[in-house]
Amino acid sequence: MNLAKLKLFALIGDPVEQSLSPAMHNAAFRALGLNCVYIALRVPKPMLADAIASVRGLGFAGLNVTTPHKIGIVSLLDELDESASLVGAVNTVKNNRGKLIGFNTDGEGAIRALQGEIGSVEGKEVVLLGAGGAARAIAFSLARAGARLTIVNRTVPKVRALASTIEQKLGINVGVASLGRTELTKALKNADVLINATSVGMYPKINKTLVRASMMHRGLVVYDIVYEPLRTKLLREARRASGKTIDGLGMLVHQGALAFEIWTGKRAPVKIMRAAAKRELRGESR
Ligand code: ATR
Repeated sequence: MNLAKLKLFALIGDPVEQSLSPAMHNAAFRALGLNCVYIALRVPKPMLADAIASVRGLGFAGLNVTTPHKIGIVSLLDELDESASLVGAVNTVKNNRGKLIGFNTDGEGAIRALQGEIGSVEGKEVVLLGAGGAARAIAFSLARAGARLTIVNRTVPKVRALASTIEQKLGINVGVASLGRTELTKALKNADVLINATSVGMYPKINKTLVRASMMHRGLVVYDIVYEPLRTKLLREARRASGKTIDGLGMLVHQGALAFEIWTGKRAPVKIMRAAAKRELRGESR
């Protein structure tokens, strides 16, 4: 490694201590023999503008962006790729000779992980739980991929707003429902795929789930983007209902692989990234 010519990449967010991204990206850089390093930097919410000025001043080559900055960073960048401007949120930044360009690889990452398991989502009935940053990105990608989408959220005005934004921007109609048992059961009855894009079930509240086995039918594909733990309560319920389950590691790896490709222009070593993320997960003895 030539330290005088090092290219620096960072994750910014708060918190970032638990992130698997440094392990995943540094493994990829090593595998391709790139003179690059990826670090995690805790940036409290009020410090975001200062942090972005430093990224420019210090010439960081690229960033990943996580909670709580995915939306706040938009107005601090020079340009947005279509993936980010559609969703209105950024998880990846490329420093293109001083110009900071924002991308969003969350939605495409989730779709790649899903399609890797079940094939095309075109024409599939999908129930998506959540209307936050991650859910928004996934909703746009699913709608564009031709899925028939119903979005369900605790806060109904938020999910209505998301549905009308998708209709305005893409001209695609999506259904909306609340978490009320009757509405949710009705939505799930005809669903091929259920996706949890809320934080429910995430460590430390690992015994929480928005949907129980009694509301699922045999053959329903249940996909949880939560990866801490990998076997969430929702996925355990899906097993009880004899559904197919997909855990959150795939989305993490694919959104990272897409970011890697944006930064380096090289094909990401996806298997190596997955193995590194898995090792890191296991290393945290919980
Ligand atoms: P992220 O950027 O990770 O998606 P977020 O923007 O804070 O995070 O969104 C979190 C999502 O999880 C939201 O859809 C939230 O529902 P609300 O819009 O009603 O807040 C959902 N969520 C979090 N905790 C929840 C809970 N206990 N029950 C139901 N939904 C919950």
